Amino acid sequence: MFVPMQLHLPSPIQQLVEPLYEKMGVEVFVKREDLIHPLISGNKWRKLKYTLNKAADDGKQHVVTFGGAYSNHVLATAVAAKALSLQASAIIRGEEQQNEVLNYCKLAGMKLYFVDRLSYTDKKGCIERFFKGNTAIFVIPEGGASPEGVKGCEEILGENNETFDHIFCAAGTGTTAAGLYSYIQKNKLNTTLHVVPVLKSGDFIRNELAKHISIKEQLELHTGYHFGGYAKSTDELLQFIVAFYQEHQVLLDQVYTGKLVFGIHDLIAKGYFTRGSQILWLHTGGLTGLYGVKTGLEQIDPNFTEVFSKNDPLQFK
Ligand SMILES: Cc1ncc(COP(=O)(O)O)c(C=O)c1O
Repeated sequence: MFVPMQLHLPSPIQQLVEPLYEKMGVEVFVKREDLIHPLISGNKWRKLKYTLNKAADDGKQHVVTFGGAYSNHVLATAVAAKALSLQASAIIRGEEQQNEVLNYCKLAGMKLYFVDRLSYTDKKGCIERFFKGNTAIFVIPEGGASPEGVKGCEEILGENNETFDHIFCAAGTGTTAAGLYSYIQKNKLNTTLHVVPVLKSGDFIRNELAKHISIKEQLELHTGYHFGGYAKSTDELLQFIVAFYQEHQVLLDQVYTGKLVFGIHDLIAKGYFTRGSQILWLHTGGLTGLYGVKTGLEQIDPNFTEVFSKNDPLQFK
């Protein structure tokens, strides 16, 4: 791979221990994809790896992608493009604004184009509007959702030579889940993949997955942990994130991994898993999302000011 960035691979698997797991007789492990890189963290690197290779193979010097104002994917694309000396642009959903994530993208040299929510749904139209006739661009779909993204995510489980009865991931576009499922099927593992959609009406993920893989068995969708929808959170969720950090010193975000781990704990507490089960979940990074709820977390636990500054991803400039 040609990337001159310091990526910490393979990401480690750590066991988590707490009274709930002991009581219910299960073992819980986390694969710390969040430690791969502070800004191209978690599944972001996995999805970008073959995508950027393809851009290079196609001789493209300018990557263009899409996302919301706090998008982890847009941030990761900006940082990776800078490291690879590629030009980068992003079409951002909603009115022009500034925040820590967007400011950092600009700092990395990314050009931002803001479009209203309705126009944003027409991706082709957006490309036409801003890049008509520009043959140097390589378009990366929103969230890195592409066959190259799936291929990169297939590599996640092959790294550690360990097997588990149950593997959990959060899903937005379903790309990560498709890669994990594909690996499980190709390697004939006796593992069930559990997917926790972070959006409302998460059943749509099944259709998204079907675009990339043929689904047989060993797949379960848990659609009840969206907490009101994409990027929505509640006091209960924030309290969970604080309590989980106090117990494990692992920080979760409220958009993806907080909902995922809340769901896993709920299922464990309800006796969903047989005793002796080994459960792995993926920490897919995304801690920049926490900027949106920093004050809420600090209200629950004043020590979170320090926790946050210790873990603040954007301090890794
Ligand atoms: C931190 C984090 N975890 C999980 C996901 C969900 O991944 P996917 O879109 O592949 O379903 C995303 C979104 O891309 C994310 O940013």
